Amino acid sequence: MKYSIPDSVLLKAASEYGTPLWIYDRATIERAVKDVQVFDTVRFAQKACPNLSVVSLIRKLGCVVDAVSAGEIVRALKAGFKGGQQKGKVPEIVYTADIFDRDALELVKKYDIAVNVGSPDMIQQLADFGVKSELTIRVNPGFGHGHSRKTNTGGDLSKHGIWHEQIKDCIKLAQSNGMWITGLHMHIGSGTDFEHLAQVCDAMVDASRHLGSHLRTISAGGGLPIPYHEEEKGNRIDVKAYYDLWDNARKRIQQSIGHDVHLEVEPGRYLVAESGYLVAEIRAVKKQGSNLFYLLDAGFTDLVRPSFYGSYHAISVVARDGRELNETVDAVVAGPLCESGDVFTQEEGGFVVTRKLPKAQVGDLLILHDAGAYGAAMSSNYNSRRYAAETMYTKGEIKLVRERQTFEQLLQNDRIIEL
Ligand SMILES: Cc1ncc(COP(=O)(O)O)c(C=O)c1O
Repeated sequence: MKYSIPDSVLLKAASEYGTPLWIYDRATIERAVKDVQVFDTVRFAQKACPNLSVVSLIRKLGCVVDAVSAGEIVRALKAGFKGGQQKGKVPEIVYTADIFDRDALELVKKYDIAVNVGSPDMIQQLADFGVKSELTIRVNPGFGHGHSRKTNTGGDLSKHGIWHEQIKDCIKLAQSNGMWITGLHMHIGSGTDFEHLAQVCDAMVDASRHLGSHLRTISAGGGLPIPYHEEEKGNRIDVKAYYDLWDNARKRIQQSIGHDVHLEVEPGRYLVAESGYLVAEIRAVKKQGSNLFYLLDAGFTDLVRPSFYGSYHAISVVARDGRELNETVDAVVAGPLCESGDVFTQEEGGFVVTRKLPKAQVGDLLILHDAGAYGAAMSSNYNSRRYAAETMYTKGEIKLVRERQTFEQLLQNDRIIEL
């Protein structure tokens, strides 16, 4: 499979920084950002890849940012985004969540962060905390979509957003506390299903009727997909057609309220997924009955998507000794964890499958592709495994953007008490 980083660079990076190792390709991020800049504003959903160098690069490319937690507010500020809300200006940071924890509430107040509320309780809590500002509402239109039950973001089994029939009550609640609702947001993730997306756009037009002339902004949320399978690579989402559907909704809203409405999009995956590679070393090659296993030094503590959702990541192998890899085999690719679900080649429901891969040996590198979104971001310390180092490939060079966690850092907050 073709990819944007030369094998020689991967080999050098692996020997310099060790494995497992994340590499983000700067040029791929730049290309993805450009694609979606047809929208008035691109708000990066940093949860997909919160590395400070990545967030800061995306800021320099002209995007603003979404924060879903207190920690993400702190990260956004550290990456150079500013708090503050001025009439007629797009806020650089928007806090979008279904709850406030106490830390988030304090940071929102301290830095004057714009809030996109996902529960009526959040409005009251803001008011009780002495915050008076314009708000936007994340709306649950009553139906959802999503590539797995775990990613469905609408409907009556989703915890996300304010139920569409409660918008009117939220407007009243906000007004009774001296606040105005000036924006609507929907993150449903229709993917490439444009018929479904058209329904989401209609739901936005419907929801806008409650706000009338107070409405200034609509947000299309995120959910723009990328082609994970090799055979889908030539069939990318038509971003312009995606935009056109939303632009049409915006125009219908403008016609009914009689003034301009700003149109935002909030992608995570689309901006960073294809830029990211997880580079691992094959540490064992063994047979279990008739099945061949490649066991890596990376596991679901590094990249959890296959174990969590049965997600597919393209895989390639780079020979450490430079030999030609002409022969192929069917292999299961798994990690080092003491956990049977620690398998990269599995389908939704946990069904382990084999993949046709080059015949490899211990010491070769195995590359998991399209891992830049929800990769390092969802890593954990399970099995007391350390967070892997992260690097960026920029101008032909690999630069370290996050050091590998040390054993000292892994243990530093634990305490042994006298018992
Ligand atoms: C509110 C919100 N916006 C944007 C996103 C980004 O979604 P994606 O990475 O699919 O573009 C998410 C993802 O969960 C989200 O919850």
